[in-house]
Amino acid sequence: MIGFEQFLRDKKKMVEERMITYLHQIDAPATLKDAMLYSISAGGKRLRPILALAVMESFQKESLPVLDAACAIEFVHTYSLIHDDLPSMDDDDYRRGKLTSHKVFGEAQAILAGDALLTESFSFITENEHLSSDQKVRIVSILSRAAGASGMVGGQVEDLEGENRELTLNELESIHEKKTGKMLECACLLGGVAANASLVELEALQLYARHVGIAFQIQDDILDITGNQDELGKPIGSDVANMKTTYPKILGLEGAKQEMENHINLALEHLGKINRDTGILASIADYIIKRNH
Ligand code: IPE
Ligand code: IPE
Ligand code: MG
Ligand code: MG
Ligand code: MG
Repeated sequence: MIGFEQFLRDKKKMVEERMITYLHQIDAPATLKDAMLYSISAGGKRLRPILALAVMESFQKESLPVLDAACAIEFVHTYSLIHDDLPSMDDDDYRRGKLTSHKVFGEAQAILAGDALLTESFSFITENEHLSSDQKVRIVSILSRAAGASGMVGGQVEDLEGENRELTLNELESIHEKKTGKMLECACLLGGVAANASLVELEALQLYARHVGIAFQIQDDILDITGNQDELGKPIGSDVANMKTTYPKILGLEGAKQEMENHINLALEHLGKINRDTGILASIADYIIKRNH
């Protein structure tokens, strides 16, 4: 097995090249294309596509069949970040080390760049030649459920409605699970569908990703306090400024770290039920706790 760092580097490069190629061939107004390319080429960890590719690796499958669907999730994620940073939402000026989309292109164009990335994600999946029609329908259905009203967007709504009031730990866990967890679940599930995983394996992958997703958002909350803008590429203190309830706010920093570790341990327990070479997925869980950006 290749080293974990090398795996991350290789897959990041593969995903970035494919997304840029796809965007270049779209027939769209120049401003829209510029704004889409600006946010997509700004960097980022590419965790969601990497998770999908890590599932393929675990099932000893080539990356190619799932590559476009993996890029499609990154399109949806990037749209969610463009909208999350808008003045009417978290009102942040930096993302991925660069000015946010609305700071460069204005609010209207930023909203439209997000809309276009979301919608193009579906063509990205359906136009690729490496999946069967049945796999494409299942993947579009998984992605739309994860990103939509009962998933990421629903979580973002509850996150905004939670501003300026105290949330319980259960309410907060549900928000984290929806706004962040669902997209990570989606990444693992579509890897599983492309790899022809069994129903039992899909269920274990989903539970692994659910706990990785909550842990990932807990670390995001922690880094909003302890991180540094140069490493993170986005401002710290955004949650306090927006009166958000976060894990560190309810449990304290140490308590939040403990809760994050509990979720990672649960993730690893579910991963252990899959009888495949899941070393890369275990390493990703570990990386989530240790990351500083
Ligand atoms: C940030 O996501 C928003 C959350 C859901 C926590 P990432 O931390 O994955 O951001 P990028 O893609 O690496 O920029
Ligand atoms: C956003 O959560 C989750 C999304 C669905 C985009 P945050 O608002 O905490 O993400 P950051 O900290 O701005 O990246
Ligand atoms: Mg937010
Ligand atoms: Mg935000
Ligand atoms: Mg945050």
